[in-house]
Amino acid sequence: MNDTHAPLLELRNLTTMFPTRRGEVRAVEAVNLTLRKGQILGLVGESGCGKSTVLLSILGLIAKPGRVDKGQVLLEGRDITHLSGGEMRRIRGREIAMIFQDPLSTLNPAFHVGEQIRESLRLHHMMLGPPWPLDRAKKAREKKRVIEVMQEVGIPAPEARYKAYPHQFSGGMQQRALIAIGLACQPKVLLADEPTTALDVTIQAQIVALMRRINQEHHTAIILVTHDLGLAAEFCDHIAVMYAGRIVEIGPTDQVIEEPRHPYTAGLLRCIPHVGERRAIEPIPGNVPDLADLPPGCAFSLRCDSARPVCNEGFFRLQPASADAVKRGEGGHWARCLRLTDYQMPALED
Ligand SMILES: Nc1ncnc2c1ncn2[C@@H]1O[C@H](COP(=O)(O)OP(=O)(O)O)[C@@H](O)[C@H]1O
Ligand SMILES: [Mg+2]
Repeated sequence: MNDTHAPLLELRNLTTMFPTRRGEVRAVEAVNLTLRKGQILGLVGESGCGKSTVLLSILGLIAKPGRVDKGQVLLEGRDITHLSGGEMRRIRGREIAMIFQDPLSTLNPAFHVGEQIRESLRLHHMMLGPPWPLDRAKKAREKKRVIEVMQEVGIPAPEARYKAYPHQFSGGMQQRALIAIGLACQPKVLLADEPTTALDVTIQAQIVALMRRINQEHHTAIILVTHDLGLAAEFCDHIAVMYAGRIVEIGPTDQVIEEPRHPYTAGLLRCIPHVGERRAIEPIPGNVPDLADLPPGCAFSLRCDSARPVCNEGFFRLQPASADAVKRGEGGHWARCLRLTDYQMPALED
């Protein structure tokens, strides 16, 4: 993607905490990310790494007593980190839409799918004029737009399906309906949290193709959260790998996939099955650490086959992981690993 575009969405030093009985847990710690118009960024890591918390922090949806403790979320340069509920609602949907893994938890079972998409349009005042009084002509215009959106996301026979209930849709159709709700207001940014995890592979491929088409036709920027590095490799132009609340590697997809510089990324790559290859999948030993009880130093060190005693000392910054990383700044390839000693250049963040 063209790096000369001004950032659409920026996370600066974002840190999100949850108080727990065992102390404060930093589910997201000092995360810096930049998303530009039309860019597709993959946020990858095992379950429990903090990926969903990043998306919920962007939208001001962290459940209390959890909170964004430090840092900022900037939308086109405007700080939206601590907006009031009403101001945030205006941004959600109209500027930034989010789709979740489980469509049925978001769709209301009691209302027609078409009505729910129409509601999303109306909530954000995208239709001309005030929502009331609702005359017939206006209702017809709104319905026409809903049918267009349903068509756009590949729901067949949308006129007939307008009055269907969510349970009458298959899983893939439900996810399409959810994407339609998200897209009804033509947001600039789409946040997709494991949108295909619950779906069959063929349906998964269709949903990915749909998101790609939306990205190409409307230049909608997308953050795709997934535990599947293979999916991110296929779909995203940049990949950020998260571990224990921190970004441990970030860069252009081809560099991250072809030359992973963090052992965690390399481990995730070895977990991807390749069709036609008889190589055994090698799981990463052990589990994501308990965030309330992180080891000193590198949080991955407990599972890392190249860990040295020094890995448990001090703190590791993101280091340039390719020759051009410093020149490209946040568009370059960076990793948080002691092994990157051959690139001892100024770090991007503290
Ligand atoms: N509501 C919450 N209350 C307490 N801790 C939470 C809450 N949500 C998330 N966490 C903590 O943050 C960690 C990361 O969660 P999450 O962002 O959902 O990870 P991911 O999406 O990568 O699976 C969890 O393992 C948990 O420790
Ligand atoms: Mg999650």
